[in-house]
Order: sequence, then C-alpha cells, then structure tokens
Amino acid sequence: MSYLLGIDLGTSSVKTVIMDSYGTIRGSAAAEYDILIPQKNFAEQNPHHWWKATIDTIQNVLNSSQIHGKDIKGIGISGQMHGIVLINKDYEIIRPSIIWSDQRTQVEVDEIYKSLGKEFIGDETLNPLSTGFQIPSLLWVKKHEPFVYNQIYKVLSPKDYIRLMLIGEVGTEITDASATLGFNTKSKVWSEKIITELGLNLDNFPIVMEPTNIAGTITERAAIITGLPKGTPVVFGGGDQFMQAIGNGIIEPGQVSLTIGTGGQVFSVLSEPNYDRRLRTHTFCNAVPGTWSIMGASLSAGLSLSWLNKKVLSGLSYKEINTLANCINPGSEGLLFLPYLTGERTPYMDSSARGTFLGLVLKHERAHLIRAVMEGVVFALRSSVEIIEGLNVKTNKFVASGGGARSETWLKIQAGILNKEIYKSNQIEQAGTGAAIVAGVGVGLYKSIKEACETVIDIGKVPIEPSLKDVHIYNEMYELYKDAYQKNKDLFHSLSKM
Ligand code: XUL
Repeated sequence: MSYLLGIDLGTSSVKTVIMDSYGTIRGSAAAEYDILIPQKNFAEQNPHHWWKATIDTIQNVLNSSQIHGKDIKGIGISGQMHGIVLINKDYEIIRPSIIWSDQRTQVEVDEIYKSLGKEFIGDETLNPLSTGFQIPSLLWVKKHEPFVYNQIYKVLSPKDYIRLMLIGEVGTEITDASATLGFNTKSKVWSEKIITELGLNLDNFPIVMEPTNIAGTITERAAIITGLPKGTPVVFGGGDQFMQAIGNGIIEPGQVSLTIGTGGQVFSVLSEPNYDRRLRTHTFCNAVPGTWSIMGASLSAGLSLSWLNKKVLSGLSYKEINTLANCINPGSEGLLFLPYLTGERTPYMDSSARGTFLGLVLKHERAHLIRAVMEGVVFALRSSVEIIEGLNVKTNKFVASGGGARSETWLKIQAGILNKEIYKSNQIEQAGTGAAIVAGVGVGLYKSIKEACETVIDIGKVPIEPSLKDVHIYNEMYELYKDAYQKNKDLFHSLSKM
C-alpha cells in the first residue's frame, strides 16, 4: 500500500495526517502553539515553535499508525497564509513571524494605496490591500526594524519555512505568492513594479513554482529528526485555503466551501482571473491548474466563539456550547453580535472595526451570547457569499468545512442565514488531506487533482435544508447586522484609537 503525508501548519496548531492512496486517514497527530501578542494589534508566532510542533506530529503519526516511513511516497504542506518569515543567508530566522491576523500595518496599507493607486493594486494583484499580508508587514519591518530588514536574505510564507527545514531548499508556489500582495496574479510572476516602487528588494522573494511540483527530498538531518526516510519527495504544497478546498473536493467553478476555523472563509473556483473592482474579496491563483480562486474572508469566526468561551464564560466543552445554543431560538431573542474582534476583511477591509453585542436585555443569558456569536459569524460569511454571487460567479453547491461543520447547530444556522442547502464535509482534516492529494499528484500516484478527489473525497450526500421560518427571521436580522456596522463605524474608529 502507498501512503501520503500531509502537514497543515495552522494558526493554533499543526496537524499531520497519513492517508492511504484510497483516501483513508490512517493516522493523525496535532501539536499546539500560541499566538504571541507583544503589543495591542500585533500577532506573531515563532517559526521554531512551528518546526518543533511539526517534528512532534510527524514522529507521533508514524508511531501511532505503525506505518513504515519507506511506504510514504510523498509529502505535501498546507499553511496559514499571508504572514512573513524572514531568514538570513544561513537560513536562520531573524525575527518572529508577523502572521495573517496582525493588525499593525494600517499606516503602510494607506501609504501603498497612496503611492501606487487603488486601481493599479486591484488590476495587478486582484486583491485589496490588507493588514497582516506580506508586503505591508515587510514595509513595517523596513521602517521600524532596519537592522532586521538589512539581514533579510529571503521572505517566506509560513509553510515554506517548514519545507525548508525538511528539504534544505528555499522556494514558494503560486497560491501563497498571490496572497502576499507583491504578485501579479494574472500572469503568476512577482510584481516587479509593486516590489521595487515600494523600495523593497525583488531578490528577497523566492522562486515560485506550482503546488504539485516536487520541491526536493527529505535531507539526512530532517530524516534523523523526524523519522521520515531520507530522499522522500516533498512537493511545494499551498496556502491552507487552497488545500482545504481540495480536501473538500472544491475544484470546479460552482462549488463553494464555507469554512469556520479560526477565521471564516467563503471560497470558490474561477476559470478566469476575475476580481471585485470594489476590492472587498480576494482573487488568488489556485492549486488546480488553469484556475483561480475567489475568497471572502472574515477574521474572527471560530476565534469569536473561543474568545467568548475562554475569556467570558468558564471554558465550556463544545458539547455544552452546542446544547446551550440549541436552547435558544434563531435570532437569539434580539441579540446581535458583530464578530470584528480583530477588525474585519470582507466586506469592509477595516482594521479598526470592533466586536459588539447589540440589543442586550436582562433576559439574555450565556446561551443567548453563544448563539448570537454563532449567528454573527455566519452573517459575516453571508456578506462574502452575496459579494461573490453579485460578481456573477456560479455557486451551486455549498460545502461546510472546518470546526463549524462539526456542530449540527452551526450547520443549521448556516443553512438558515444563507438560505442554501449545506453539504457537510466528512473529511477529517481537510487541509492536510488536500496537501496529501497534491503530494500524490506530484509523485504520480494520481493523474490529476480531479482524479484524486474522485477517489478520496467524501462529502455527505444529504444536505441540511434551510427552514423557511429561520430564513425569514435571519433575513430581517441580516439587514440590522449590516446597518449596525455602518451606524457604528465612526464609533469603532474612535474606540480603536483609545
Ligand atoms: C486566508 C486567511 C486564513 C489564514 C489562516 O486569507 O487569512 O485562511 O490562511 O488560516
């Protein structure tokens, strides 16, 4: 039997799976790490922690599955996107990674728009500028830490560092490159104009390949540390959104994934590099050859619920959370939550937006807060779905993914708020599975991503249907949800300065 190993470098943990060529997950292991918040609005992680966690998960999954390393035919890596990992000539880390949820760079975002123009940025990158993305973060380092900036040899995306540690070679691929804001997403090359006009150095950006290309093989050193055999091929892999899409079988136009993980994303496939001229969504290169992807992103999805649970409630189990949410009627008896705990991307691209409960009365108790948070997160997803559909992007199958798909209550809320049939992904670790599939294509175990998905992916056959009564309530509530941001925007901005 042949096996593939998929590593998913997430924001709160790394998860590693071993999958057999028919798609059965034969073992999985996870190891957590923290987000470091040295100052308000900062979000950083230490790449050494990622690597240590990756080593642990590889060793654990090899031990627990009893699968011999020599039967692993290929390795793929999925990773949290947009962040910067800075290395020097000796491939050493020179500062902690500034990750995707970091909000320190609004000044840089405004400066880039001012110097290059919104229209040019849109046309070149097919994206809005956003805090937490590589180019603004790099400009921040250049301005605030010139001694660090001067040591940079290469700027990597998070998962590229893990691959470097496994194979000893530097590189990236089109999906993460298009998510840096320094890339021409139509022609799939670094944007010389953006990089040089901003005073950055083109040489600092690594070679860009396709996700399924073999990047190299496990080095002797990595073999000793991880237990994987020296010489095992490692493919370039891709950003987590593209890998989870493949792991949910989202590979053709019309298919849409709704992910509720730390952040929330609505993701679909495009056959042409179309983008939202109002710059509210992202168009990136996709891992499936000849396609692009469109994505709406909200920053605090599962994060909103875990914030409520850890910081406000007393750390309930997910079973308790779901039971409590289920006791409350749709609409949370007039309680509305705006999930902008770390600002918001789609549709506002506003790092100063703030989280809010609106409509509290004495009757409300913790169950209402829980349900209102779950609903607020899905209202945010609805904003993305509406924009994507408004661009005439075909959407005919919605697949729920991430932690949010494991809660029956959250699935029903998605069906009701979006007024769509929602299919549930039965895949256990979608991004890890996507990375394993990409590795399988790279080493020739599958002819194509499509063929692999037909063999591997299992999506529930019976969708969750929206209830008309819920749809009616949620439609009304959604109008208030949109209004709530518009009416409070100035207030959020003033509060964010305090
Ligand atoms: C996508 C995004 C997240 C991160 C972390 O734009 O910000 O998916 O990649 O998972």
